Amino acid sequence: MKPPNPQALDTLRQRVRAVKERFPKGRTALIQALHEARWLFHWIPPEAVAVIAEELGVHEAEVREVGSFYQYFKFEPVVGRYHFRICTNITCMVNGAYNLLEHLKGRLGIGPGEVTGDGRFSIEEVECIGCGDRSPAILINDTRFEGVTPEVLDDLIDRALKDELDA
Ligand code: FES
Repeated sequence: MKPPNPQALDTLRQRVRAVKERFPKGRTALIQALHEARWLFHWIPPEAVAVIAEELGVHEAEVREVGSFYQYFKFEPVVGRYHFRICTNITCMVNGAYNLLEHLKGRLGIGPGEVTGDGRFSIEEVECIGCGDRSPAILINDTRFEGVTPEVLDDLIDRALKDELDA
């Protein structure tokens, strides 16, 4: 995996400094700083861990330790540009989540925990994302889609392939 480009790391540094102004005690800014890194890189590369640790005055191990508690933060490059999270908890499951997951696997040719060869798509099976009443629900990056059918999924994939999906 190529190291992140230096400009993106500079951008992260500026954003972490802005976060630090809002949360002056280093540790309280950590989660938000990790979000800034994942929005930039779609995962948390070691170089980003180093920037966050340096700017917040905490140890790199602490950045990893705190971040690894949350499913959002990946310290390995296992996410693509469009990261599909399929909720397979009970309500979504009875409303077709596994059907959706199979459909997605068929369209993309990958399974959960994998990334397409071009780095565009990845899949993750996740716990409840808080909208079981409008299930099945998925997240693409941070954007939530509810009541998703295979046809809706196809449309989302097609838009992502044309870089027309706002997610
Ligand atoms: S059970 Fe799927 S969003 Fe809650």
